[in-house]
Amino acid sequence: MVARAQPDRKQLPLVLLRLLCLLPTGLPVRSVDFTRGTDNITVRQGDTAILRCYVEDKSSKVAWLNRSGIIFAGEDKWSLDPRVELEKRNPLEYSLRIQKVDVYDEGSYTCSVQTQHHPKTSQVYLIVQVPPKISNISSDITVNEGSNVTLVCMANGRPEPVITWRHLTPTGREFEGEEEYLEILGITREQSGKYECKAANEVASADVKQVRVTVNYPPTITESKSNEAATGRQALLRCEASAVPTPDFEWYRDDTRINSANGLEIKSTGTQSLLMVANVTEEHYGNYTCVAANKLGVTNASLYLYSKYGRG
Ligand SMILES: *[C@@H]1O[C@H](CO)[C@@H](O)[C@H](O)[C@H]1NC(C)=O
Ligand SMILES: *[C@@H]1O[C@H](CO)[C@@H](O)[C@H](O)[C@H]1NC(C)=O
Ligand SMILES: *[C@@H]1O[C@H](CO)[C@@H](O)[C@H](O)[C@H]1NC(C)=O
Ligand SMILES: *[C@@H]1O[C@H](CO)[C@@H](O)[C@H](O)[C@H]1NC(C)=O
Ligand SMILES: *[C@@H]1O[C@H](CO)[C@@H](O)[C@H](O)[C@H]1NC(C)=O
Ligand SMILES: *[C@@H]1O[C@H](CO)[C@@H](O)[C@H](O)[C@H]1NC(C)=O
Ligand SMILES: *[C@@H]1O[C@H](CO)[C@@H](O)[C@H](O)[C@H]1NC(C)=O
Repeated sequence: MVARAQPDRKQLPLVLLRLLCLLPTGLPVRSVDFTRGTDNITVRQGDTAILRCYVEDKSSKVAWLNRSGIIFAGEDKWSLDPRVELEKRNPLEYSLRIQKVDVYDEGSYTCSVQTQHHPKTSQVYLIVQVPPKISNISSDITVNEGSNVTLVCMANGRPEPVITWRHLTPTGREFEGEEEYLEILGITREQSGKYECKAANEVASADVKQVRVTVNYPPTITESKSNEAATGRQALLRCEASAVPTPDFEWYRDDTRINSANGLEIKSTGTQSLLMVANVTEEHYGNYTCVAANKLGVTNASLYLYSKYGRG
């Protein structure tokens, strides 16, 4: 790398003043040449921006300026930024190339050209775009039915991404509004499931993330069917309960707890419990109670085992 003497920072105002003297008096250096207007150049973060500028003859005095000062004065690089260089594909070109553009590069850049008779400044506004990226989303949560829930989804991007929420399962409902916060007041069991946050802008495809909401609720017995069986045969009583977390089941014969023993077997899997009698005798006919419980509550239902031939 060739070391180039950089102008002393402290001298910058002085040198800037000298450069300004090259321009016609009264014309501020940052003024736009209104006949040309301001061009916008849109570049994605990380890409290379080329700000075009052309001179009319080789003897023109030229400079590139930034909000913060001079970037190039003629061939002399004043900027300390290694990403910045001149692009001169022909003797009349005086374009500025900025590599790996970042958001702080956004702003106006002025190409100042001083020819014999036509002083001219042209201004370019560099717009830096950033694809949407979700930076923070709520963790999966478990709440009790009736709670107020607030989900958060934060995203970065330029332009500012639009955030939308969607309930993926089971309702598929899309929530209106462009909100970082999704508030669910008095959440119901139907509102449990996956929620999707989508952050979108026009720069690149949307960023999408999910959060799972588990809603706890006390058991309700959804099915408990009485049954009938002949003596000497097998009998089955089935009880089904809806609950989150998964319920625990107990069986009672009148007021006495039943255990898996003496030809009776209890099989509980998930939301369902089976009471099986291997070899039905007269004593097995009667009133049974299925109890389903989780940490939020307990409920029960009565079932009957009837004699196959005549009730009782
Ligand atoms: C440049 O962008 C601004 C807003 O970002 C807009 O108002 C203006 O019209 C644009 N200029 C040109 C020349 O496209
Ligand atoms: C333009 O100015 C900003 C400060 O306002 C600076 O951070 C940036 O590096 C400059 N860009 C170039 C290309 O020199
Ligand atoms: C995400 O947001 C939560 C709540 O606002 C905050 O407590 C947490 O520190 C944030 N995490 C990150 C990585 O920003
Ligand atoms: C939920 O929010 C509503 C309205 O803000 C409030 O009235 C209610 O008390 C809250 N419920 C709980 C369980 O915090
Ligand atoms: C059922 O029990 C009766 C009376 O105890 C017995 O005679 C019969 O063999 C048993 N049946 C089966 C299939 O075990
Ligand atoms: C069956 O048993 C349950 C629980 O012990 C009781 O509440 C119910 O009244 C009984 N039903 C009959 C018809 O005896
Ligand atoms: C079934 O529920 C009733 C009413 O809540 C209660 O009185 C009864 O004790 C319960 N039975 C059992 C076996 O838990």
